[in-house]
Amino acid sequence: MTTQSEPKVTRTWRLDSACQTLVLASYDDGLPEVIHWGALIAVNEDLGALARAGRRPLTNGVLDQIGSLSVCPEEGRGFQGQTGIDARDTEGRPLLTQFVLAESAVARSDALVVEAFDEKYGLTYRATFAIAVDGGVIEGEAELVNRGTRDIHVDWLAAPVLPLPETASHLLEFAGRWTREFALSRVPIQRGVHLRESRRGRTGQDHFPGLVVPDRGTGEHSGSAHALIFAFSGCHRILVEELADGRRQLQAGLCEGTRLSPGETLSSQRICLAHSDTGLNGLSHTLQRHVREAVLRWPQPQRPRPVHYNCWEAVYFDHDVATLKDLAERAAALGAERFVLDDGWFGSAGQSRNDDTTSLGDWTVDRRKYPDGLDPLIDHVEALGMNFGLWVEPEMVNLESALARAHPDWLIASEGRVQIEGRGQHVLDLTNPKVVDYLFERLDALLSEHSIDYLKWDMNRDLTLAVDRAGMPLLVRQTDALYALFERLAEAHPSVEIESCASGGGRIDYGILRHTQRVWLSDSNDAHERWRMQHEAMLFLPPEIVGSHVGPRHCHTSGRVLPMAFRAGVALSGHMGFEMDLRELDGEEAATLTRYTRFYKENRDFLHAARQFRLEPARDHVRAHMSVDADASRFLLFCGMLAAEPNETASPLKLAGLEPEALYRVHLWNRDEMTVPPTRSFASPLVGDDGLVLSGSALMRVGLVLPLAFPDRMWIVTGERLEGNQS
Ligand code: DGJ
Repeated sequence: MTTQSEPKVTRTWRLDSACQTLVLASYDDGLPEVIHWGALIAVNEDLGALARAGRRPLTNGVLDQIGSLSVCPEEGRGFQGQTGIDARDTEGRPLLTQFVLAESAVARSDALVVEAFDEKYGLTYRATFAIAVDGGVIEGEAELVNRGTRDIHVDWLAAPVLPLPETASHLLEFAGRWTREFALSRVPIQRGVHLRESRRGRTGQDHFPGLVVPDRGTGEHSGSAHALIFAFSGCHRILVEELADGRRQLQAGLCEGTRLSPGETLSSQRICLAHSDTGLNGLSHTLQRHVREAVLRWPQPQRPRPVHYNCWEAVYFDHDVATLKDLAERAAALGAERFVLDDGWFGSAGQSRNDDTTSLGDWTVDRRKYPDGLDPLIDHVEALGMNFGLWVEPEMVNLESALARAHPDWLIASEGRVQIEGRGQHVLDLTNPKVVDYLFERLDALLSEHSIDYLKWDMNRDLTLAVDRAGMPLLVRQTDALYALFERLAEAHPSVEIESCASGGGRIDYGILRHTQRVWLSDSNDAHERWRMQHEAMLFLPPEIVGSHVGPRHCHTSGRVLPMAFRAGVALSGHMGFEMDLRELDGEEAATLTRYTRFYKENRDFLHAARQFRLEPARDHVRAHMSVDADASRFLLFCGMLAAEPNETASPLKLAGLEPEALYRVHLWNRDEMTVPPTRSFASPLVGDDGLVLSGSALMRVGLVLPLAFPDRMWIVTGERLEGNQS
């Protein structure tokens, strides 16, 4: 019987963020393995002993050495699972790398960089882990440098590869579609590979580029969980593999291969890693904080998130200045602070954009609809005290446009192949600098000539035949060029905010969020669907960037008819807006919307800095969360009912995030909605002027009983900590 030989030299490193420790070990100068990713471990841990303790026994029938699950598992080292690098020379010969660790490594308290060389092929591999700001997230990136003299082709380069706990039984992932974003799926971890991939040229609603791995028994408030988010918008691949030896690996990277010429460096793109010991809420706090502090760049950080009015579901392409002015007046009266003119305002000589078949690419104001240009509408909007936002979809072009006629070679195409249309449109090739210059010039002109505070940047089709004019893959370069265009615009117009929209939530990721300040979570303005989506998205996104609109009474994407209070409650828990023909509102609806909008404004500074806690209601039809400020002195609880109460009475709801010993005065803010069931009255102690005073521990351990409610209703509960002996 053979045994695994003991390494002669073991080198180790560690990186500790606020909530996680990474420990790396390299054996005999091979690429390091992450031997621990998870909870913080003792500062004085003997990492050499830890590395030794993790060596594994082998059964018969396998190689004499267990394939190293390094930051880049290599076929050349006998790794038999999915490798972290897959490259070949120009003749197609596989590069069987055996990277050798460089002497030096950068090991600071906030970053760890290890390098390794493969002299046979002239390659350098570099793995970087860095703590972003002072939050808990660790960012990782792998780079490959071709120091040789010949081109190579890299089909796959994973960001630094991580082990997953063998105690976890499933993954939490998100698989949706248009109007059904962030649909949670629980995937068992089994022997073999589970792979999620987007090759759409945008993130995609179907494969959000992130996942959570809860350990067994992990819930919202307790237990261990890991998360990885891939921070790039153009394409991605995330895979989880359980090997025959029981180890599990997590890989993420770009799913597009590329040629790497001498002197060039290929980046895997960044991954964001988080670990929590306090359940899914702990993860969400770390990730939301990361987005707030390390990802988003606000043009005007102090400005509260304004209430939007968006005219899309009111008028679609049917733009008429008098109607839009009327809608603006109504929106302002209800409390809107920003008017967003959606699709349909532009055209070109001889054609208006009256449907989605024409004019994309021709970013000139349609004089048939706006005889005096946009300014009269903008002036009107501003006179009402709102600022003005404009919809654009710069990456796209309709064949029915002056741009496509003048520059047919600017469209993404492949010689002799039929290009599929998506929503009747094509994609511009942003790897062509002339295209980007044109787009910059058009957008710059619009932003310079008009008082525009905000762009809703849409992207309504997937890329197909995704190659440049030379036939080379372009998903990554297209996305890089888009990011560069954002940078250029931000430099020229630093005060303009941008929303990332892609048929709703088709481009939501931590890459696009470096350049944008809001995401349009979904084209579904159905509050029932939204409530579920927002609940899941909360794991990754803070509420102030999650656009959420009060839609029409008859929802356009689902046909549901939902009460105003529910629609408004759902919207105000994100970045609130209205999107409907406001002329449909009756007096009661308008009064309710005004009241909820006022409540949003009174509470947004708090909500947009608070931590969110998802609660664990006793029944599945309830989705609830609460926002709690940093010192647990105040909270707002949102409790939405998505179906009828299954029992004869309602169960207590346990709160979270409070100070156990402190007393809180608790009120049902929207007690006016307490109209059901009509046959029984219920004197909830939460509705009186004094509310109810309970300790944090009672609220968290015993819970609050809320009144019964019909489906698609929401209770909003306010809580304030009492100081001293006040009660
Ligand atoms: C898709 C977006 O998601 C909608 O909100 C709207 O802006 C339309 N595009 C306009 O064409």
